[in-house]
Amino acid sequence: MVDSSTTITLPGLEDGRRADEPCTIVIFGASGDLTARKLIPALYHLYTEGQMPESFRVIGVARREKTDESWRAEMRAGVETYSRTHQVDDAQRDAFAANFEYHPGDLTDADTYVALAKRLAGLGDPCLVNNLVFYLAISPSLFGEVVDQLHTAGLLHRMGEDDEHWQRVVVEKPFGHNLQSAHVLNNHLLRHVRERQIFRIDHYLGKETVQNIMMFRFSNAIFEQLWNREAIEHVQITVSEDIGVGGRGGYFEEAGTLRDMTQNHLLQILSLVAMEPPPSLAAEDIRNEKVKLLKSIRPMTPEAVATNVVRGQYFAGTVNGDSREGYRQEERVNPESNVETYTALKLFIDNWRWSGVPFYLRTGKNLPLRASEVRVQFRPTPNVLFAAQGHLDLHANALTLRLQPDEGIFLRFNGKVPGNSIETRPVRMHFGYDAEFGAYTPEAYERLLLEAMAGDATLFIRRDEVETAWQIVDAIREGWGGMPLSNREFYAAGTWGPVAADDLLEPDGHKWHNPKPAER
Ligand SMILES: NC(=O)c1ccc[n+]([C@@H]2O[C@H](COP(=O)([O-])OP(=O)(O)OC[C@H]3O[C@@H](n4cnc5c(N)ncnc54)[C@H](OP(=O)(O)O)[C@@H]3O)[C@@H](O)[C@H]2O)c1
Repeated sequence: MVDSSTTITLPGLEDGRRADEPCTIVIFGASGDLTARKLIPALYHLYTEGQMPESFRVIGVARREKTDESWRAEMRAGVETYSRTHQVDDAQRDAFAANFEYHPGDLTDADTYVALAKRLAGLGDPCLVNNLVFYLAISPSLFGEVVDQLHTAGLLHRMGEDDEHWQRVVVEKPFGHNLQSAHVLNNHLLRHVRERQIFRIDHYLGKETVQNIMMFRFSNAIFEQLWNREAIEHVQITVSEDIGVGGRGGYFEEAGTLRDMTQNHLLQILSLVAMEPPPSLAAEDIRNEKVKLLKSIRPMTPEAVATNVVRGQYFAGTVNGDSREGYRQEERVNPESNVETYTALKLFIDNWRWSGVPFYLRTGKNLPLRASEVRVQFRPTPNVLFAAQGHLDLHANALTLRLQPDEGIFLRFNGKVPGNSIETRPVRMHFGYDAEFGAYTPEAYERLLLEAMAGDATLFIRRDEVETAWQIVDAIREGWGGMPLSNREFYAAGTWGPVAADDLLEPDGHKWHNPKPAER
């Protein structure tokens, strides 16, 4: 049961409901997977929760020929299939879909934008015409061109402080494929808009549990007091997937887990776990601290890469009884590929708080379980009293922040087994989101779309953040230097990664703690 709760009013929020101005969301990539699976269901939930502006329009742009009505029908079906709400109210869904229009056109063709400008002008209400969210749910190769064309068509300009209306650009991941390409893309976008108009997505930041990391750290004195090198021995961050690359072999050959997962999700989680308290909850204050943290990571020299980074690639195996082929046998994958489907890093943060504390980050595909968690391992007690009695199985305290699924927080400590002997056993205190708050967990994209409409960039990646993350990742890739994978870097699908990953922790006397299935 929740005894009482405290509500903080965030900018743009009034009494828990967004007080946003009317706006139009233009989705480029309207016929794509992301739009159907994530964006439309998210908008629908915001609508049913009364969090959309009083008046709004959604204009979908893609090449495929569709009418307004056929697109609406597809979106209605998409809501039915992908909505997290089991019961979809037909009347509400139809009223929602009535706000949708489809605009067929090629994004490389200037006429598409001229016609889009006309269509927008036809909406009448100056807010719907001029308050615009441009959502780039398209291939990154089109990001620059679309922004150029929007600018040329007069739909996007650098906002002044006193502008009555606004335009924002939401940019999907991946944002570049290395520092240089991210830098070029940033310069390209910033030719036409200000940084505060750009909303770079890392959908992990939209997750409730990821947002809760900050709340947990900075609103609970008992943990934050211990959140440093004096009390913490090491930290493990695991993002494991129980699927392989599926149909995305072609994309993955260009990316690999380091660029696809570590550069964004893992470094974002790390920065929230380890950053200093910001002076306020303002977007810039929070993002300043995250950047400071990323900049404090000890540089990855080639020597450090050799000892502190492990790659892996899965070969054929079974995941939960389901047989999987090896990565090299997947569609559109080079049969001799050395692309990594697993990455583990040991990082050090050279600042006052964390000096000498290893942070182990790992992520991989075709592991036994889908889970994301942060495990904070505290230092052991001094070797006296119970610990001195060698036969006692004393475990150091550990705190686990489970980000998905079965979201929750667990604290492990030692308890006395009832009886006349002195026997201890590790026991756990468990806070589960489901049990405490019920099953209602908004999807990441709901929060992100809401924030983009409200103009709050806290949950989006700033330019220097994305570039600093690429700098770290580029140094690692440079250290790999195109070397082929060694035997110790292969792992069978359905295992927790290559032997080389265990070797990474072994010299420190540490072991990976694998996420466990939900306890129900
Ligand atoms: N899907 C996900 O879960 C997911 C997750 C994270 C990030 N993302 C990112 O989101 C973006 C979109 O991903 P997706 O999976 O939705 O891709 P997708 O299914 O391939 O959709 C691409 C969309 O772009 C449109 N398009 C392509 N070229 C076009 C052109 N020249 N003119 C107009 N429209 C064009 C396509 O429509 P037409 O063919 O009809 O033109 C389609 O609607 C990518 O940046 C991806 O990395 C996706």
